[in-house]
Amino acid sequence: MQLLDRAGQIRDAAVGRVGKRTVLAGSAVCTLFFEPSTRTRSSFQLAAQRLGADVLNFDASTSSTRKGETARDTLKNIEAMGVRGFIVRHPDDGAVQRLADVAGEGTALVNAGDGRSAHPTQGLLDMLTLRQACGGDFSRLKVLIVGDVKHSRVARSDLHALRTLGAGEVRVCGPASLLPDAGTTAGCVVGTDFDAMLEGVDAVMMLRLQRERMEEGLVPSLEDYHVHYGLTAERLARAAPGAAVLHPGPINRGVEITDEVADGPQSWVLRQVANGVAVRMAVLEHLLG
Ligand code: CP
Repeated sequence: MQLLDRAGQIRDAAVGRVGKRTVLAGSAVCTLFFEPSTRTRSSFQLAAQRLGADVLNFDASTSSTRKGETARDTLKNIEAMGVRGFIVRHPDDGAVQRLADVAGEGTALVNAGDGRSAHPTQGLLDMLTLRQACGGDFSRLKVLIVGDVKHSRVARSDLHALRTLGAGEVRVCGPASLLPDAGTTAGCVVGTDFDAMLEGVDAVMMLRLQRERMEEGLVPSLEDYHVHYGLTAERLARAAPGAAVLHPGPINRGVEITDEVADGPQSWVLRQVANGVAVRMAVLEHLLG
């Protein structure tokens, strides 16, 4: 809640409406990404710059990673250049913790998404968005998370955050092949009937359908997925009036969500993105300021 409050306070600075702050002046931060990203990387970069830090963007695809250098050696080498803040995205579960274990004292790592484990700042920015959309009392909130929950680090961090903040009711919905183990959804209402699960919810958090799941045979086709789990305006009418629609991006338009809903009046998608800069400023300020 402290991070969310702080993000709310510095939102004008986050979206560039006021000048740069200097709390991280003299610090160097590296975005260390071993997977692609648009929103997370850009917003962390802007967040660090708007706090006055120098920012180094490491891109695995154009680095010595391609010659076989390990993530550990990459981190240690960049750390040797005086970088004390690392924003890390990695395809392997637990990779960020393993890198944190070998980082020097005084070096901070932020998880920007690892494997299917966690995407903590996405969880935070989603909670800030829910608070803005639905009010601050999470105990009154009915939230539905929809889609490829099984493979989603966003869903895991959202579930963690919703439990921590005491959300009133959390529903989880998707095809049986894309639902996670019971432990992940403990305390949630779980089901496969999207129309039924939508009834009366205050917010719908859509997840990206990871297209590779089709190749794995977990989804028959994109068309079939859309028929059963695509959020259309007609379906959205089942939710509470004015229910908020969230999506972490990138969106598969016409698959998990229609253009009409993604760009419609109930969409908070771009406000999630703006909140991402503010939340990441709050996190960097807390860790490095
Ligand atoms: N939401 C999210 O993590 O998007 P990117 O993969 O573009 O960073």
